[in-house]
Amino acid sequence: MSGEGIGFGKAIVFNEHFVVYGIPAIVSAIGKYTIAKLDAADKPGWKIIDNRKATPNYKEEKINQQKESINLMLKKLNIDLSKKGIQITLEGNLYAASGIGASAASCVAIARALSQHYNLDLSNDEINIIAYEGEKGYHGNPSGIDNTASTFGGLIWFEKGENDVMDKIELQTPVEIVIGNTGKVANTTAAVAGVKERKEKNPEKYKEIFDRAENIAYLAKDALQDEDYQELGKLMNENHKLLQQIEVSSRELDFLVKLARDHGAFGAKLTGGGLGGNIIALTPDRDLQDNVANAIEKEGFQTLKTVIGVRRSGE
Ligand code: MEV
Repeated sequence: MSGEGIGFGKAIVFNEHFVVYGIPAIVSAIGKYTIAKLDAADKPGWKIIDNRKATPNYKEEKINQQKESINLMLKKLNIDLSKKGIQITLEGNLYAASGIGASAASCVAIARALSQHYNLDLSNDEINIIAYEGEKGYHGNPSGIDNTASTFGGLIWFEKGENDVMDKIELQTPVEIVIGNTGKVANTTAAVAGVKERKEKNPEKYKEIFDRAENIAYLAKDALQDEDYQELGKLMNENHKLLQQIEVSSRELDFLVKLARDHGAFGAKLTGGGLGGNIIALTPDRDLQDNVANAIEKEGFQTLKTVIGVRRSGE
């Protein structure tokens, strides 16, 4: 018996952090994925072989969180490994880095592989629930946006609540983006905790910022539906400013954001937890996409060229 599963990487296009407090956010799966392969093992318990390419130190820094995450998923599924164990192998073309859903993609991939290996026949909704449990191992109280994008693919309007809202946003034509990697591994738990602390200290200031973030989400949805990318880019720039105000940006993120804008990106912002990790730049044209990616690479940073708004993820 063996199992295999896939989970997509993601880029948050609007409102990371704000989403934790129920503000709507927009996220897209990206065409890069993690694959989990599962084999029966002779020894009890589980063992992992992590063959993903990764930002230096990423795997080392996340090893305890990964352990916790896998244990949480096994517990939620009531899988007992005290007699027969399993070996999990992670691979795929998603570079493991902060901000592009590496943890969520691995949770979804492992949940799918477990489902196949143990003949559980889990639906996508159930996979999403298990992966959410796994995400708790990486960052305590996740909003669920990452595992949702990683499970279902596509471009998604997401609102955390008693019952999460998840609506697909359909584009006529997928639009090009560049993801730029600062090369810094970031701790999402610390970033989320920092926002909480500052928000509690400055409720009035934060209310104003959060209100504007909410407003931006609705304007961005309209801009996406109209395929008005000039407007969408402006809103991304403004969203980055709000993220700076809640202090989750960093010198490297601001540098890459400015570089992308200076080379013609319609808009750019940090993506994911911040304090390191990645930026997303809107570059609706192949030449512009190349131009922005080349400029970032010339400065010694890694890029990923992809699109958002694909109807079926993984293309
Ligand atoms: C991390 O990719 C996104 C955050 O908003 C945290 C979360 O939503 O759980 C920072």
